[in-house]
Amino acid sequence: MLSKVMRVQWESQKLAIKYFQVAIILFGAQLLFGLLAGIQYLYPSFLFGVLDFSINRIVHINAMVVWMLYAMIGSVYWLLPDETGIETVGVKIGTLLFYILTAAVAVVVLVYLLVQVGPGTDMTIWLITEGREYIEAPRWADIGIVVVVLGFLANVYLTAFKGRRTGIMTVLMWDLLALAGLYLAGMFFTRNVSVDQYWWWWVIHLWVEATWEVYVAAVVGYGLIKTIGASRRIVEMWLWIEMAMLFGSGILGLGHHYFWIGTPEYWWEIGALFSALEPVPLVGMFVHVIYDWGKQAGKQHEITNKPAFGWFVVNTFGNFLGAGVWGFMHTLPQINIYTHGTQWPSAHGHLAFYGAYAAILIGMMYLGVQGKYGLKQLPFTRAGKWAITLITVGVLGMTVALTIAAYVQTMVERGEWGATWEGYFAAQNSTWMLQAYGWRLFMGIVTFLGFVFLFYDLLTVGKRAEVAERATAGAVAGAAVA
Ligand code: HEM
Ligand code: HEM
Ligand SMILES: [Fe+2]
Repeated sequence: MLSKVMRVQWESQKLAIKYFQVAIILFGAQLLFGLLAGIQYLYPSFLFGVLDFSINRIVHINAMVVWMLYAMIGSVYWLLPDETGIETVGVKIGTLLFYILTAAVAVVVLVYLLVQVGPGTDMTIWLITEGREYIEAPRWADIGIVVVVLGFLANVYLTAFKGRRTGIMTVLMWDLLALAGLYLAGMFFTRNVSVDQYWWWWVIHLWVEATWEVYVAAVVGYGLIKTIGASRRIVEMWLWIEMAMLFGSGILGLGHHYFWIGTPEYWWEIGALFSALEPVPLVGMFVHVIYDWGKQAGKQHEITNKPAFGWFVVNTFGNFLGAGVWGFMHTLPQINIYTHGTQWPSAHGHLAFYGAYAAILIGMMYLGVQGKYGLKQLPFTRAGKWAITLITVGVLGMTVALTIAAYVQTMVERGEWGATWEGYFAAQNSTWMLQAYGWRLFMGIVTFLGFVFLFYDLLTVGKRAEVAERATAGAVAGAAVA
């Protein structure tokens, strides 16, 4: 019967939608605090003593990491029943853990905003912040996160063992284990800064340049099967190749963070060689999506979820440009000695996180909306198109502005003034850098406007498409009766 709407049936997918909902709210918070920090770059006295730059920056990047982890867990709960053919084992515990995690995140954010700093004792590490960039959460929250993630892993493993085990599932199982295990490397405080940084990079680099990338490869595979009907055989063949290449270059590519932190000099060669190889798998992922797309186009297969597919395409290009090209620019030690600690990593970080992770996860949210309302097709609405355009133009604009700032900083502060204290200020106060910061702020506002469209679209597109689908089904049924 045409008019029968198959709304989401799996409890696992209902839980996924909860994760997506919190994720999108945190994405909004990320952008708002980014804007505050961007304003402070130009007007340093803005909110000084109330919400300092350091606090806004912490909230900006922690909100990013947390919303991405939420959306990643959500996406797994979404695809689990589809891939395994069964309801997720332990989904009730999963739901309970979701509420515990969300309450903990709320408390951590309130402490960041209201308490802000501690006396620098062990109590600060336990209750306020650990002070490690991106994973500043205090230790009690760290331990809570480990418990929640263990519950999540148990659910994934038990479900995969009981149900059908596809290639996508096998890769995800190994990958999630590694991803979760790496978090432990960022939990141990040592008083030696070199040692502390050494391990901290295991979390950040081995997440974004190895385990998260493998995760994306698996999820893109699932997404392509869902949206354009790509062949599972081809998708999974690519997946194995990509996984081998990502781990092959990403693990030792870690060396590009060991150039100047007091680690042995052999990291110069290792870091240079393997990190320079890192763009290769990203080209592979790029070719993968385009190839599947081309294969399907020949068969006139319709795209069942255009907004999701649109975001997958942004992901493919963004990952390649942001991580591959912008990462490669400063990865050789001969170049990095000048660019390290300038706006260069920030330019790269924005485009890479957006392209490689934000885009794919937003695409998964659109799959969630389609499934929630049981729609055959999810249309690309005007709001949805504004969202993808404004956000992408905004982030690209910020990246270009920061790249110009980085170029000037490298030339003036490092080249001309030899990395001195005066050189730092000479560069920061140059017209070029100030203008670039102005453009970053303007493009940040464009990004935020895009987010408003995205939020509205995610909230409304499902309902509207459902009404439209029912009306068409009714008309078809009516015509048949007549
Ligand atoms: C999606 C994948 C990637 C993401 C999300 C990402 C993100 C980032 C971020 C946020 C930073 C700044 C870290 C900090 O706060 O100190 C950074 C640093 C860096 N990234 Fe990436 N990155 C990715 C892939 C790559 C790749 C593939 C390369 C090399 C080809 C690369 C090269 C670098 C280098 C050299 C630095 C260090 C800059 C410095 O400290 O001097 N990244 N990355
Ligand atoms: C409203 C738009 C945004 C504005 C105005 C903004 C602004 C900022 C500012 C001012 C910083 C601090 C830079 C510093 O410490 O020198 C920052 C850091 C960062 N932002 Fe954003 N941001 C925005 C959106 C985003 C998005 C969409 C992403 C990724 C999805 C992102 C990822 C990051 C990362 C990874 C860092 C740390 C970079 C590093 O350590 O090098 N931001 N952002
Ligand atoms: Fe790295």
